[in-house]
Amino acid sequence: MSEGDLTIHVCTACRRVRADLPEGYDQPGQALAEALTERLIAKGSAIPVLPVECLAVCKRPCTVAFAADGKWTYLIGDLETETHLDEIVGAAEAYAASTNGIVAWKERPPSFRKGVVARVPPLPARQQG
Ligand code: FES
Repeated sequence: MSEGDLTIHVCTACRRVRADLPEGYDQPGQALAEALTERLIAKGSAIPVLPVECLAVCKRPCTVAFAADGKWTYLIGDLETETHLDEIVGAAEAYAASTNGIVAWKERPPSFRKGVVARVPPLPARQQG
């Protein structure tokens, strides 16, 4: 697998509604970023995970973005650390293996299929494939 320069950005500012907490929300993004980093390292992957403050998808925590030079950028929401770690890793590996960032529908894990918010083209001069 060619990981290229894929970076997984994870929003750490999203607020997930939690009626059981005094504040009424938690912010699970930091835990997702840390768990994702650990899972990737355990697999021997060099894909970096970069916490970010906001990806403008605030109502669909947790939100991540896959971005790489010359590839389409994907924004994916509604991700949970407890249930989606392996799917995020699988989606990232499929993205990394693609020539242009577009992952075939049948190769997308369910959370990727349901959670895609947007895809953004690479700069024209950087497009591949
Ligand atoms: S606060 Fe997470 S996308 Fe805006």
